[in-house]
Amino acid sequence: MNQLLSIEELTGDQIRELLALGHKLKAERGHHTTQPLAGQTWALIFSKSSTRTRVSFEVGIAELGGRPMFLSTRDIQLGRGEPIKDTARVLGRMIHGAVIRTYGQDEVVDFAKYSNLPTINALTDQEHPCQILADLLTLEEKYGVGAWKDMKIAFLGDVDNNMGRSWMWAAKHLGFTLALAGPEQALPKADTLTALNYEGIICTTDAVEAVRDAVIINTDTWISMGQEAEKGTKEQAFFPYQVNAELLKHAAAGHSVFHCLPAYRGYEITDDVLENHAPVIFSEAENRLHAQKAVLYTLATSR
Ligand code: CP
Ligand code: NVA
Repeated sequence: MNQLLSIEELTGDQIRELLALGHKLKAERGHHTTQPLAGQTWALIFSKSSTRTRVSFEVGIAELGGRPMFLSTRDIQLGRGEPIKDTARVLGRMIHGAVIRTYGQDEVVDFAKYSNLPTINALTDQEHPCQILADLLTLEEKYGVGAWKDMKIAFLGDVDNNMGRSWMWAAKHLGFTLALAGPEQALPKADTLTALNYEGIICTTDAVEAVRDAVIINTDTWISMGQEAEKGTKEQAFFPYQVNAELLKHAAAGHSVFHCLPAYRGYEITDDVLENHAPVIFSEAENRLHAQKAVLYTLATSR
């Protein structure tokens, strides 16, 4: 494995291996015996805001012996129009790896191609692979390794966004049932479902149907970064898909609510639900560190 650009491009075995390594690195935190990034500088090139992703990568790179270099596109020439392929060729001659948060998936693909560096997608409009690895790690911590295979997992709200798409590919690669519920216009398009070609995906406009007997109930903001102009027109249609106590009455006993954060209380999730499920939700945030260290470790040792 020499890049992590999407969950789509991974195999089920690669996901399972990353999760196993994530558990191991979490258990060994503070006394790692190997430093696979020793002597290396990894750039974090971010065009969008971030709290969890930036901090977890900066800490994770340092804990594996490397030096993180944060580059906001507000400050580098990329933000003034220098092509990604030129930026990539320059950095490819100086640094050892890159973590990129941006808009188009083509930008991370082009960066990886022109830099020839190990490249990690830290969120694009298409996918958020690091978050899904952290979420699966969290699920396994609570329910057991491989527990996802017999589960119904639900995702409510803006389901055809970066989080929803990464969950869809994880469902296909690992073989679990994923129920997606949102307004008609937010459900996955036919070409996405055709590309997935996986019968374990349920798409519905009925929130109760999606949540019924689900063990994990996932949601995310209805307005992803870059969509702020749609806030007024988009939001109203999503209220039937709010994760609230009434809806959760239909979920399986012992269910968990997942949220990648940041959360918008009163919109995709109510305050009481978020606070009731805070231990697992903030474990998802913490597990960004451990899952991403597994990715960094794998990329550094398999080239
Ligand atoms: N979940 C997540 O990616 O958070 P940040 O936007 O704060 O990095
Ligand atoms: N779908 C959200 C995820 C934030 C971590 C966004 O893209 O803004």
